[in-house]
Amino acid sequence: MKRLTVPAIQARKGSEPIVMLTAYTARMAQLLDPQCDMLLVGDSLGQVIYGLPSTLAVTLDMMCAHGAAVVRGSYHAVVVIDMPFGSYEASPEQAFASAARIMAETGAAAVKLEGGAAMAPTVAFLSQRGIPVCGHVGLTPQAVNALGGYGARGRSDAEAAKILSDAKAIAEAGAFAMVVEGVMESLAKEIVAAVPCPVIGIGASADCDGQVLVTEDMLGLFERTPRFVKTYDDIAGRISAAVGAYADEVRARSFPGDAQVYRPKA
Ligand code: KIV
Ligand code: NA
Repeated sequence: MKRLTVPAIQARKGSEPIVMLTAYTARMAQLLDPQCDMLLVGDSLGQVIYGLPSTLAVTLDMMCAHGAAVVRGSYHAVVVIDMPFGSYEASPEQAFASAARIMAETGAAAVKLEGGAAMAPTVAFLSQRGIPVCGHVGLTPQAVNALGGYGARGRSDAEAAKILSDAKAIAEAGAFAMVVEGVMESLAKEIVAAVPCPVIGIGASADCDGQVLVTEDMLGLFERTPRFVKTYDDIAGRISAAVGAYADEVRARSFPGDAQVYRPKA
């Protein structure tokens, strides 16, 4: 299987839904890759991998290290890497330097950054210089302090209108796709109809051009999941059960058993 490309993803608008999940490690990437069109190395790794309270303390070093691991573990999906808080907002030039480092150190095909109209010049600057940009509007977790929490966005008409114009602004600036997170379903549908690029929903609408979830959330591995997550498994429960069985056997000296020990060959 040849690796999908950014133009191939763009061409999915209005046709086949795009399947996207997060990955932070090579092994998880290997497992997800055959069934995904895009893998996102999300800055959600701050909470999921590093136990941080938000994504704000995630660094370029972290994104580059995990991004490279995910590219090494995949051969089919388009890998998109989140630009961490503080690495791109100051200017298009700052964003280009950070994005170029991410692309060079990881081998990923694209970056993702949060923000609307204010980030449109940056989206244009990168897109016109060979760096495909995925946008991210609606609930933008790097802005948690400004937003006052992780609640759904676009409940008021004014806020919905602002998010719609943000989505249009980054699409016009050349975003090849965008994530729309945590918005009213009706607003998500409006955005899908209003922009020419694929809209990847998370807590948005089944009418989006694709869907993304945090893999640990959908597997039931992370502690706390928002309303928009559907848990397809209970991996946390299965890990607890497996570790419990191991602990019992170690304490009973029944592990290792005959099959796991070395003895002289007969
Ligand atoms: O960091 C992340 O995992 C994300 C997705 C939730 C879209 O940005
Ligand atoms: Na993110």
